[in-house]
Amino acid sequence: MLITLKVNGQDIESNQSESSLLNYLRDTLHLTGTKCGCEDGTCGSCTVIIDGEAVRSCLVKLDKLNGKSITTIEGLSKDSQLHPLQKTFIECSAIQCGFCTPGLVLAAKAFLDKNINPSKDEIIKALSKNLCRCGSYPRLIEAVQRAAKELRGEPLESFMQEGVTDSRTMGLSVQRKDVLEKVKGETKFVGDLYFDQMLHGKVVWSEYPSAEITYIDTEEALALPGVKLILTSKDIPHNRFGILEPDQFVLAEDRVRYIGEPVAVVFAEDPDIAAAGAKSIKVGYKELPGVFSIEEALSPEAPQLNEQGNIIKQVSVKRGDLDSAFEQADIIVEEEFSTPHGEVAFIETGGAVATPGEDGKVIVYACNQSPFTDRQQLAKILGLGTEKVRIVHLPAGGAFGGKTELTVHAFVAIAALRTGLPAKIILTRKETLRSQPKRHAYNMKYRIAAKSDGKILGMDVKLLADGGAYLSWSPRVLPTSVIFSTGPYYIPNMDINAANVFTNNLVSGAMRGFGASQTLFAVESLLDMLSRKANIDPITLRERNALDIGLPTTSGQILTAGVSYKKTLEAIKKAVNEELLPLKNSDKKIGIGIASAWRSVSGSIGVVEEAGATLQLLANGKLVIKVACTDMGQGTHTALCQIASDIVGIKIEDIQIVAGDTEVVPYGGAVMASRGLYMWGHAVTRASENLLKILLAEGASLLGEREEDLNFTGGAIVNRASGQTLMSLQDLASRSSRQLLVDEHFTLPKTYPLLEDANESCSIDPELYRTNQTINYNTTAILVEVDEETGKVKVIKVIVAVDAGKIINPEAAKTQVEGAVIMGMGFALTEEFLIQRGINLTDSLGKYRIPRISVTPEDIKTIFVDANDPSGPQGAKGVGEIGLLAIAPAITNAIYDAIGLRINSLPVSKHVDMIRRN
Ligand code: FES
Ligand code: FES
Repeated sequence: MLITLKVNGQDIESNQSESSLLNYLRDTLHLTGTKCGCEDGTCGSCTVIIDGEAVRSCLVKLDKLNGKSITTIEGLSKDSQLHPLQKTFIECSAIQCGFCTPGLVLAAKAFLDKNINPSKDEIIKALSKNLCRCGSYPRLIEAVQRAAKELRGEPLESFMQEGVTDSRTMGLSVQRKDVLEKVKGETKFVGDLYFDQMLHGKVVWSEYPSAEITYIDTEEALALPGVKLILTSKDIPHNRFGILEPDQFVLAEDRVRYIGEPVAVVFAEDPDIAAAGAKSIKVGYKELPGVFSIEEALSPEAPQLNEQGNIIKQVSVKRGDLDSAFEQADIIVEEEFSTPHGEVAFIETGGAVATPGEDGKVIVYACNQSPFTDRQQLAKILGLGTEKVRIVHLPAGGAFGGKTELTVHAFVAIAALRTGLPAKIILTRKETLRSQPKRHAYNMKYRIAAKSDGKILGMDVKLLADGGAYLSWSPRVLPTSVIFSTGPYYIPNMDINAANVFTNNLVSGAMRGFGASQTLFAVESLLDMLSRKANIDPITLRERNALDIGLPTTSGQILTAGVSYKKTLEAIKKAVNEELLPLKNSDKKIGIGIASAWRSVSGSIGVVEEAGATLQLLANGKLVIKVACTDMGQGTHTALCQIASDIVGIKIEDIQIVAGDTEVVPYGGAVMASRGLYMWGHAVTRASENLLKILLAEGASLLGEREEDLNFTGGAIVNRASGQTLMSLQDLASRSSRQLLVDEHFTLPKTYPLLEDANESCSIDPELYRTNQTINYNTTAILVEVDEETGKVKVIKVIVAVDAGKIINPEAAKTQVEGAVIMGMGFALTEEFLIQRGINLTDSLGKYRIPRISVTPEDIKTIFVDANDPSGPQGAKGVGEIGLLAIAPAITNAIYDAIGLRINSLPVSKHVDMIRRN
């Protein structure tokens, strides 16, 4: 059947009547601004406008569109003029990773075309079918309100940042550098790459969580016309990989250990043939007994899943005399807590594309967080030198720790090398849910001993976590959990015992919080219980126990600088008194919850951490920054440009950033653990300082002046005394015969592993012993309303006070905190990745219940306390995770405040009946 339709004003004819509109737009017309995040109508990232209505294009087949007119994001800006919504999305900082942005802009456009005077509730309703995992919801509402105002012809207050000058941007909210492309749908994510003759791959996944493979029959699949290559374990040069240790099989050999284990891969001329090929591969399985819970893993009768047994790692830390602390206690609080498996749920699913390069090279395009780790692992799998593997990291459509590991990268790389053709695999949502690592599920048991004045004497902590089938990040997540398990408090006596175990559940890995979110939920709930038992308000209680300079952390590290935790408590005390307490005078069940959090910037605990930066002044006077630091929507690239701009004295618009290409940028580790700004900020600072020296020396030589008489500011060399401009940067760059380039590396000062005695016996000089270079702190107050009729909990107001050191770009940093708050609300209230006997019952995005725009609190207020970390670049730390970590306990503490019900296991939505009965 021939279909006629208009796309962005152009007449189009197609006979692909059975194709979804989404696939047609992307695969045939290559209008890749329309994104795919779920294929089942849940995420809204595929939204387009059809005859004036916002429609999710994955749900519509072409045969329903005869004669229709379709607008995609590419058709929105007229004569390269942005639509008012595109402008306000930028102005209101409503764009982070940008993957959801085109769909949201179009949903808002269709809505405003009908209602130019909308209420906030109407806006929320109009955008309710679109998910943003980065949590830009408050900004999105503001952006639509502002665009409506503009469309009504009302004057708009200026969004220009005051104080920005040619070379002064530090601490100012300059516009992020990546947002223009994102709002126009022009940013290329990995799924947006199309090459001629590209092969499409489809993975055959394990059918059982624990089974022996008896045979793999590929004959029928190979005979299918269009199938070009089938990979099984025999085709993988070195069939092992793993982010910490190579314990995982690239393709399963004689057994499978979880339901997301890949067994074979089919590459074909088009995705449908690849899928048919994958379906026709026959795999023989003999089911084996499995281990599906922490308790089962620890049972003496349990099958041993690993040569080392079922325990992945055990960590114990003891300090002082816990027994006597409990003997001396006036108050003891104790409780058990649990948190479920969590799904990262970035809207861009996993995937990779590879192309064959020259001289036996392969180029792999990915959306991951660590280009050099990917390269090292891939080279090993492929049996090649690292120089033969080039990784090009494209912007990621959200990552949150979940894109630190290899998924299908080796498959596409091998296909490209074997066939000489480009190869692509983009995982479906179902495949992503089944195969990519989860947040660890935790069982936690705590006892706290305290005096009647609230001073904590001791803490007894037992932690058990489900690591799933392979190591992944588990050996590092556990020590992080332990270090942050006691909260930001001085604990004179403690006994912490923790372990994570292998099971046949899905693999647990890195996710925003990295083991701290679970333990902070427990300890901060207990602090609330203690404050009630001691009859001391929760902020005073925390003040009495607060960590500060000179005190040892859980690991025994003596804090020496950059600690402004108490300021977060002060800020929240004021905000609660002024803004939240007055709202408690109501007939409704309103509660206020307080919680604090802390989390290191960078993982460290003995791991060497490095980052490099190359700065090059081009002949046209533009500065290029080259870093491995990839962009996931966090705004780090802009902050790095601000640092270079301020130090070198060059306009920010004259700075360009190149990131994530291993052939172009210097070495650097992963962008995770809130370390992007901290690590690369240092590298860029050093490189900028050196470049400035070189530019002044070169300018002096070209001008025949003394170097000490010159200064560099506003993009020009000036006379230091008179301020007279002597030479523009462009002149300098074009007249210089030198290569104006600086390469700098930053290595984090040495950290040490966690010691069983918390360094009490001082095996390492206490002045030097540290597990983490720097730490963020936060105190959060949340006001909730509990409806005892329905059991629903509504978060009304959130106030987050953060010590993240000096803030380089306040708006970008605030969006990180707000996004973390929204993600924390999901962790607290609704998100639970369900696994039953190794099978993921959560097999669609809709079932996982991440927050939608309708849950947006009336107000999220971020207070960055006046802080400065002398160890940080320009005094900054990082802000990626800290906003999330106190949200769950603050919510459950607020629920207790409202109705007297203590929730000890997340998510809260599991307890609706209890809330109703309460
Ligand atoms: Fe269509 Fe998610 S891809 S709604
Ligand atoms: Fe919405 Fe990232 S900006 S998903």
